[in-house]
Amino acid sequence: MSKQDNLEVKRVAGLAAAEEVRDGMVVGLGTGSTAHYAILRIGERVREERLSIVGIPTSYQSAMRARAAGIRVADLVDYPEIDLTIDGADQVDADFRLIKGGGAAHTREKCVAAASKRIITVVDPSKLSEHLNVPVPLEVVPYALALVEKQVAALGGTPALREGVKKDGPVITDNGNFVLDCDFGTIADPEGLETKLNALPGVLTCGIFTEFAEKIWVLVGESGGCKTLTRSGPWPSQ
Ligand code: A5P
Repeated sequence: MSKQDNLEVKRVAGLAAAEEVRDGMVVGLGTGSTAHYAILRIGERVREERLSIVGIPTSYQSAMRARAAGIRVADLVDYPEIDLTIDGADQVDADFRLIKGGGAAHTREKCVAAASKRIITVVDPSKLSEHLNVPVPLEVVPYALALVEKQVAALGGTPALREGVKKDGPVITDNGNFVLDCDFGTIADPEGLETKLNALPGVLTCGIFTEFAEKIWVLVGESGGCKTLTRSGPWPSQ
């Protein structure tokens, strides 16, 4: 799929997800190029339909994009309960387990996911995989970098410090930390690996998301429209 076609199917998914927002909702706003289209469309709906909603951004990027789109933003301190979150993913497996953190935003994304009653994961078809097998981003406290690298290797992973683009040296997250992309090959036990990685001293958040499957809808953008995948039947009536 060309880059342009890929952006187009991301747009299809983002726009479809934005239609699920209802007046009065607290809405989690994801990070990345697919969630961006949802933010743009929610902003349009706020203007056109006079929706009264509050957006809870998952990153500086989504906060800036939401403000530019005319969406009122607040944070998790003000709204620890979120009606609906729309966010992207780097990979989704057959049991709706996710790998996130390609944009280094997975710590806030996991907090917002945990606070959400419902989640729409918006992806292009390349993100669907029977098994999780892309590198797992870990947000790591800089002080513990070498220790975490050793611990990841002991678990069978190959860690790589994420480097900045147009910034010399490591990526610094919105929380002031580093990111280690850890290659474990095909992950046979995502729940077990997530638990082990989260328990490592120095790891703030692991990019494997296994505990939200029951509240996730996956919208897959396609050239002819959008495919909806659910595990728990139809979306509850609004
Ligand atoms: C941000 O850290 C990630 O979790 C994103 O949600 C993910 O990288 C999706 O990005 P795209 O929608 O740009 O593919």
